[in-house]
Amino acid sequence: MRDLLPPEVAVAVAGPHDWNGQLLAAELACLSERAVESRRRDFTAGRVCARRAMATLGLPPAPVPSADDRAPVWPAGVVGTITHTRGYCAAAAARSTAVRSVGMDAEQHRPLNPGVRRMICLPEEEERLAALPAGISWAAVLFSAKETVYKVWHPVVGTWLDFADALVALDPDAGTFTARIAPARVDAAPVDAPPRTVSGRFVVADGLVRTAAVLPQP
Ligand SMILES: CC(C)(COP(=O)(O)OP(=O)(O)OC[C@H]1O[C@@H](n2cnc3c(N)ncnc32)[C@H](O)[C@@H]1OP(=O)(O)O)[C@@H](O)C(=O)NCCC(=O)NCCS
Repeated sequence: MRDLLPPEVAVAVAGPHDWNGQLLAAELACLSERAVESRRRDFTAGRVCARRAMATLGLPPAPVPSADDRAPVWPAGVVGTITHTRGYCAAAAARSTAVRSVGMDAEQHRPLNPGVRRMICLPEEEERLAALPAGISWAAVLFSAKETVYKVWHPVVGTWLDFADALVALDPDAGTFTARIAPARVDAAPVDAPPRTVSGRFVVADGLVRTAAVLPQP
């Protein structure tokens, strides 16, 4: 993930001990008592990585609880993002004076099942994917890019985005993507200067798809 984000964003990737690390009280309170072991481990690794990323920025340890809609609540003046998938977890944080929003997503690199794929990919995107080189599940990359777009969009705008609300173009040579947000969503956004596009980077390696993007300050 480090290579996918600019230097003003601090990134921490979970090591073997982080999945059993320490949660702060405000974070523990967000974990349901019924949470299964894998959820506890993912949540814990995310919070340990979040604190490590904030420490890299010179910030003191602070809790990152979850809002009712599950979005992470970063300390004032900080923007950040968390992702986990089987065997991998990472968090990124930046000062809000440096970037407006940051998002990242990790997924297993495998073909999307056809039903999911129909939900994720617009016809225009399918046409473009068909022209890309074989050997990579480009639909999985597109899926991850859209999750990253949502993680960048939601903390800034506060509204929902459907998978059909972002038209994503991948550049396989540059390892970049650009998402154009549906004009109706942009026009309805209850904030000043909502993003019309989100540009990010991706990498496919070690059995994972990783995507990340930042939104610059307007
Ligand atoms: C929220 C969502 C993007 C998370 O992605 P995921 O692949 O399921 O899971 P990941 O492990 O990568 O990310 C989970 C983390 O996302 C973060 N997250 C959850 N809701 C979020 C939100 N609204 N905004 C930003 N981050 C959010 C949380 O930190 C969560 O981890 P935690 O519960 O341990 O704190 C996904 O579940 C979702 O709701 N997608 C539908 C919306 C969407 O993607 N639309 C596409 C628009 S183009």
